[in-house]
Amino acid sequence: MLEIRALQKRYATGDLALKGIDLSVAPGQVVGLIGPSGAGKSSLIRCINRLVTPSAGEILLDGLDLGRLGGRGLRLARRQIGMIFQEYALVERLTVMENLLSGRLGYTGFWASWFRRFEPQDIEQALRLLERVGLGGMENKRADALSGGQRQRVGIARALMQSPKLLLVDEPTASLDPKTSRQIMRLVLELCRERGLAAIVNIHDVVLATEFLPRIVGLRAGEIVYDGPAARVGPEVLTRIYGDEDWSAISRQMQSPALDDDATDAAEDTARRASPAALPSHPTVALRGSPA
Ligand SMILES: Nc1ncnc2c1ncn2[C@@H]1O[C@H](COP(=O)(O)OP(=O)(O)O)[C@@H](O)[C@H]1O
Ligand SMILES: [Mg+2]
Repeated sequence: MLEIRALQKRYATGDLALKGIDLSVAPGQVVGLIGPSGAGKSSLIRCINRLVTPSAGEILLDGLDLGRLGGRGLRLARRQIGMIFQEYALVERLTVMENLLSGRLGYTGFWASWFRRFEPQDIEQALRLLERVGLGGMENKRADALSGGQRQRVGIARALMQSPKLLLVDEPTASLDPKTSRQIMRLVLELCRERGLAAIVNIHDVVLATEFLPRIVGLRAGEIVYDGPAARVGPEVLTRIYGDEDWSAISRQMQSPALDDDATDAAEDTARRASPAALPSHPTVALRGSPA
């Protein structure tokens, strides 16, 4: 469904942030993108939704090259892509409902979409989504009155407003406490499963990534250095991605996730169901370099 070939991104400063990325994502597949700060995770996500323009290579979404689209073609293609940000990107003074209906920030200017008339079916869809993400009855609360977890739920509902088929998620839990982070990850995975959504989740918490996301792509200095099942991410793979370190404590956490969380098994089930293609035979490894 998403096929990235030889993608490069060089910024005006001369930094080569992506050095030839090849990546295939199947419909409904959920991928965790990990790697050290500066590895190029955000650049990759921004190239896919064209918040930045790729320097070379192809980004095919169902065969359409996003890298070459402009104007109306790009606007239409972007409707198929939902974005969830670390800092939620909500308009603070507006209500939850207004945030959902005001279009997707980062894509269109807020005022441009605000002046459009809101359709009753959009309002109904927003109410249904709010109910689904656990914010039923909160549509008239102001965004700045919400907790971090609630704000991210608004961000998730907003990303789903245009029924995208690909979700791009940039550090969704970076501003959240551990329990809320887990709830948000679980919600994202459930929604992907329910809607057959593919997703790329850029996340720096390795333990959280490997627990919830069945396929892990490791980025280092603009290159993919690992692409395979989460179950095979151990000290050797972590060293390849992040460099030398004593990984024993992290490895232990990855093997025995928090005992106080009875949802661990459910989460694994969720991950499995969210990406049936990735388990149990892990064809994601074979998928690299082969046509999607
Ligand atoms: N707008 C920009 N202009 C110039 N260089 C940038 C810009 N954004 C990112 N970079 C550089 O690209 C590299 C990758 O950054 P980024 O994609 O943000 O990595 P990550 O999200 O993995 O931390 C870094 O060297 C960073 O300094
Ligand atoms: Mg980043």
